[in-house]
Amino acid sequence: MDFRQYVGKLEREGNLLRIRKVVSGDLEAAAVLKTAEPNPVLFENIKETKGFRVVGNVFCAKESIAKYFGITTADLIPKITKAIDQRNQPEEIKNAPCQEVDMGTVDLNKLPILRHTKQDGGKYISSAVVVTRDPEYGQNLDFHRAMQISNNKMSTRIVEGRDFHKFLERNGEVEAAYCVGNTANVLVAAAISVQTGIDEMYIANALEKTRVTKAKSVNLLIPADCEVVLEGRVFMKERAAEGPFIDITDTFDVIRQEPVFEVRKITHRRDPIWQALLPGALEHKLLMGMPKEPTIFKKVTEAGVRCLDVNVNPGGCSWLHAIVKIDKKNEDDGKKAVLAAFEGHKSCKHVFVVDKDINIYDPLQVEWSMATRFQADRGLVNKGKEPGSSLDPSAEPGTKITNKVGFDLTAPIVTKGKSFSRAEFPKADLKKYVEE
Ligand SMILES: Cc1cc2nc3c(=O)[nH]c(=O)nc-3n(C[C@H](O)[C@H](O)[C@H](O)COP(=O)(O)O)c2cc1C
Repeated sequence: MDFRQYVGKLEREGNLLRIRKVVSGDLEAAAVLKTAEPNPVLFENIKETKGFRVVGNVFCAKESIAKYFGITTADLIPKITKAIDQRNQPEEIKNAPCQEVDMGTVDLNKLPILRHTKQDGGKYISSAVVVTRDPEYGQNLDFHRAMQISNNKMSTRIVEGRDFHKFLERNGEVEAAYCVGNTANVLVAAAISVQTGIDEMYIANALEKTRVTKAKSVNLLIPADCEVVLEGRVFMKERAAEGPFIDITDTFDVIRQEPVFEVRKITHRRDPIWQALLPGALEHKLLMGMPKEPTIFKKVTEAGVRCLDVNVNPGGCSWLHAIVKIDKKNEDDGKKAVLAAFEGHKSCKHVFVVDKDINIYDPLQVEWSMATRFQADRGLVNKGKEPGSSLDPSAEPGTKITNKVGFDLTAPIVTKGKSFSRAEFPKADLKKYVEE
């Protein structure tokens, strides 16, 4: 299913808010998206640009990603794990939908690039899946926000350590395609961090058949069915101010001198749909955190603990916290799971391990575990200071040094005092008791 087919499906099912009124791409569209969150919204008329519809809030919850793939949320971790292991080559096609129209002379002002908040450094592309290539490692997919700085240039945030950053270090300048308007297969695959040299497009194809096509002006294979493609080059040495921009901690990231993306060609589908992605909001958080769940699950399982599910939850910015549900068999399983979870997600700051009777998507139940099953002297794992996430405002300034702590919230196997089971009431069908 491509992006517009999925948007159509959302509308048929009554899950899309269609806005016909003229809306400004300068703050107003973002305000509507934030207010409507988590409901998907389609804007028919963006004031500053012609010919583009804009859709946002498409994948704000795990349920929406699971629904896209036709599975339950519990099946997501196994599906993503299998796709990483069984990744395979996508079909390459000619005459791709994403190249139906060539916009000619590049003018970024013709695209409905949104400005999200007053404090932002400018208009930002935040949903683009970025395709790059290194002569030795081959292709890579990831996300890089890009702030418009002129008619044809953007400054783009490339965190040190990312594959794209490695490619830039090695080559000085790198061809890139910023692809907008993608479905969950491509978005999730791009958000996954695997060994350098693995083309995440293969993972996208294992999640769902994904067609690719040759970009027009750069030597890259891009998602054939996406909506808009910005092709060009990114330079390691040519830099420009980037930021402020809201990151997933709901705080503003600082202004940095970041590489410049020079856009040389723009192609799009006929009647194009621009995909908006609200920075710091639920969709951004979900796409950041969810791909870490399979890696945590794997490490906990490898540590010999029966892992049942993992939630890198929005309350923890979908990055700094992980809740791990285990089927506890040994007294030390909780602590083992804590340490393994940190191995599976290096940016994580706090890990919470709970028993199998706890719903890890219900913060009240997780807190209930802490209140009733946790004692700090036996359940607290203080790892001390080590590198965590650069996004954490509480990390040591200018570094990502943070104090990592895990909480074993599981009940002891052998109960000495009160029971640890949750009390259950009998159930009643209220309809039977209400007069017609
Ligand atoms: C919505 C979204 C936006 C992101 N924005 C950026 C960004 O601006 N810069 C960056 O370096 N990483 C960003 N990331 C994180 C990377 O894209 C992500 O960690 C990716 O998996 C790294 O891929 P790699 O291992 O191939 O380098 C973003 C992730 C998501 C889901």
